[in-house]
Amino acid sequence: MYPFSEAVEGLRSSAIRDLMNLATRPDMISFAGGMPDNELFPLKDVQEIVAGLSIGEQQAALQYAPTTGYPPLLQALEQWLKSKGLPVESNRLIITTGSLQGINIFTKLFINPHDVVLTENPSFIGALSVFNSYLGDVRGIPMDEEGIDMAKLKPALSLNPKLIYVMPTFHNPAGISYSMERRHQFLEVINQTSIPILEDDAYGDLTFNTDEASLHTPLKTLSGKEQQICYTGSFSKIFGPGIRLGWMLLSDDFYRKAEMCKQALDACSPTFTQVLAHRFLASGKLDQYVTWVRTIYKQRCDYMISAITRYFPEEATFIRPKGGFYLWVKLPKGMDEKELLKETITDGAVFVIGSTFDPSGAPNGHIRLSFSNTSEEKIERGIRIIGDRMKQMMTRQA
Ligand SMILES: Cc1ncc(COP(=O)(O)O)c(C=O)c1O
Repeated sequence: MYPFSEAVEGLRSSAIRDLMNLATRPDMISFAGGMPDNELFPLKDVQEIVAGLSIGEQQAALQYAPTTGYPPLLQALEQWLKSKGLPVESNRLIITTGSLQGINIFTKLFINPHDVVLTENPSFIGALSVFNSYLGDVRGIPMDEEGIDMAKLKPALSLNPKLIYVMPTFHNPAGISYSMERRHQFLEVINQTSIPILEDDAYGDLTFNTDEASLHTPLKTLSGKEQQICYTGSFSKIFGPGIRLGWMLLSDDFYRKAEMCKQALDACSPTFTQVLAHRFLASGKLDQYVTWVRTIYKQRCDYMISAITRYFPEEATFIRPKGGFYLWVKLPKGMDEKELLKETITDGAVFVIGSTFDPSGAPNGHIRLSFSNTSEEKIERGIRIIGDRMKQMMTRQA
C-alpha cells in the first residue's frame, strides 16, 4: 500500500455512488444530475462567436492569461455584476475554473485540519467534499422554509468556526431562497463576528419571476460589512459547465492570498473559454439566453410539480422553488430513501437521496429531484415511476 495522505485515506466510495453506477441504463430517466440540458445549450451563439473572433482574440485564446482572469472578461463581468447592484468597486474579482475552484480557494485560505466549517444542512455536495478534503470539521445547521435556522446558528458560533458557507438563493438541494427577513437576521448576527462568509450564488440568475428578483438580493449586496463576505458565481448554469468558468468577488485582504493560491493551482483558468465568455457576455447574448432558459426551467419545474400532484402520495411534501434546478421532497414518514431509490432504479428512474447532502451523511427522509435536465415527457414517466413505488412502499408498511 502507498502511504496516501490523511485527506485521501478518508475518501470512501459511498454505497450511493455504487448504486448510481447501476443507474447507467440508456433508457434510465434521471432526475439526479444538477446540470443543464444538452438540448438547451446556446450552440448557435457559440458558433457565431467562434467564427467572429479576431486574430488577436484567437491568439489570446491559446495563450496563458493573467492568473486573476482575461482582462476583457474581467471588465465585462465587473460591469455586469455592477448593473446587478453588487459592490464591485470596493472589491476585486477573480475568474476561477468553475465556482467550485472559488470554493476551494476560499477554503484553502482559512481551513487547517479539524477547523470548524459551518454549512447549512442540507448543503451542496461539491462544497462538502472540498471542506472534507482540507480535513475541516463540517457542522451542518438545519434549515427551514425561510433559510438557515438562526436559533441553531447562534449557539454554533461558540464552536469558533473558521468559515461559514451558505447558499441563500435557489439552494442546492433544498430548492428554497432565504426570505429577506432571514437574510437580514443572518447578516445582523454574522456582522458582529469576523468569521469569513462564503456566499455561493451559482443559481442566482435563474429566477422564475423577474419581478421578484429584488427578493433574492445577495448578502454581499445587502450587508453593511460586506468585506467579510466572499461571493462566488458561475457560468455553468447560464452558459455551460463545460467552459469551467466562475468567479469570486472578494475584498482586497482576501484577494491577494486568493490570487497566490490560484497561481499554485492552475496558473490561470482556460483562456479559450474566457474569450468565448467575454464575447457572450459583452454582446448581450448571455442576458438574452438567460431570459429564455429560465422560462424553460420554470415550465419544467411547474410540470414536475403537476406530475407530483398527480402521482405522489399526498404525504410526500415540498416547498415550491422560486428558481434554480431542484425540488427537495420530504418523503412520507418512515420511508427509507435508499430503499426507494433501489426500487425506482429497477423501474428506470433515478434521483439523489437526501443523506448525500447531509454533512454527516445521515439519512434525512428527503430526495432531490432535478428538473433542469429532463423533458416534460420524461418527467411524466419518471415521476409516475417514483410515485408508484412510494405508494407500494406505503402499502407494505401499513
Ligand atoms: C450550489 C453550487 N455551487 C457551485 C457549483 C459548482 O459549479 P461550477 O464549478 O460548475 O461553477 C454547483 C454545481 O452544481 C452548485 O450546485
